[in-house]
Amino acid sequence: MSAFIDALNARPRTTLAHTPTPLERMSNLCTRLGVEVHVKRDDCTGLAMGGNKARQLEYYLGAAQQQRADTLLITGAVQSNYVRIAAAAARRCGMQIEVQLEQRVSGMDAVYHHSGNVLLDRLLGATLHYYPVGEDEAGADANLDSIAEGLRERGASPYVIHLGASHPPLGALGYARAAVELVEQLQTTPVRFEHIVVPSGSSHTHSGLLLGLRAMQCEIPVTGICVRRDAAQQQLRVVECTAAIARLLGIPNPVREDDVRVYDGVLAPGYGRFGVEVREAIELAAQCEGLLLDPVYSGKAFAGLLALVRADPPASGPLLFLHTGGTPALFAYQNALTG
Ligand SMILES: Cc1ncc(COP(=O)(O)O)c(C=O)c1O
Repeated sequence: MSAFIDALNARPRTTLAHTPTPLERMSNLCTRLGVEVHVKRDDCTGLAMGGNKARQLEYYLGAAQQQRADTLLITGAVQSNYVRIAAAAARRCGMQIEVQLEQRVSGMDAVYHHSGNVLLDRLLGATLHYYPVGEDEAGADANLDSIAEGLRERGASPYVIHLGASHPPLGALGYARAAVELVEQLQTTPVRFEHIVVPSGSSHTHSGLLLGLRAMQCEIPVTGICVRRDAAQQQLRVVECTAAIARLLGIPNPVREDDVRVYDGVLAPGYGRFGVEVREAIELAAQCEGLLLDPVYSGKAFAGLLALVRADPPASGPLLFLHTGGTPALFAYQNALTG
């Protein structure tokens, strides 16, 4: 346990997130669902409307500052929360920010292309580049590298955050650290959680938290709700990511393959799109708890939690839902949500 914490503390990091984030009981939802449901409010990490990516960026920005980079370069979907928080993190660290927006979701309206996170990217003064291909992680990363090359030729010193799984998962260290925070919180709460539910995209949140909990000898099952890839692909991604985190930290991997749980029952109709279950989840959280979720990540993850609670046999409580933020995207999806 201490080797894990020492290894985590040895990595360069810059503080960006407001932590510890609150752990709250959702009383009205408990009554409505007939099961104990609590939420860890990582939507409240503070930076530029908050979300999970603030914790992840602490390690990337720590490395960028160590390398004396002057420009941050990142890729993501048009409505990427990661891009928005990265832009804010770069500004906080006195850096320039260049972002590549991938057209992952086709056929979207003008509001999607200009409101929500895109509006915030612009306010933060990010230089926007566009990558027209939808699902091509390696291609998007390669294009990012060529933008970085151009910046270097102009005398800048860019730090590149790639999304591809072949790059060291520095961001996942933010969630390994969050596991330490959570284990400390659990020591002072009387609730004994039976299950933790998180969204699983790049998997840095899911993999980092899972590895961190197991390294802290906390055995609560963690289920990742697929937001971009199906269960088979995501399972493999998490297995590989936990191995890569362990290598980064120089510790044995405490996560067994059969300990990686993913659920893709609410993934359809695909990344950045949502069906009736997600809409119901967003409305339920808003109307029972005043809790705002987004249609791409946190709403999908909560829809996954609801599906697990309603499954036969149902997931047993108490359940802990990790709210990873994403709420600015609500405005970009306003037509889909109100139509
Ligand atoms: C709000 C929100 N939640 C969850 C995720 C998924 O997290 P991860 O990429 O660490 O799997 C993202 C990814 O961008 C996000 O923006």
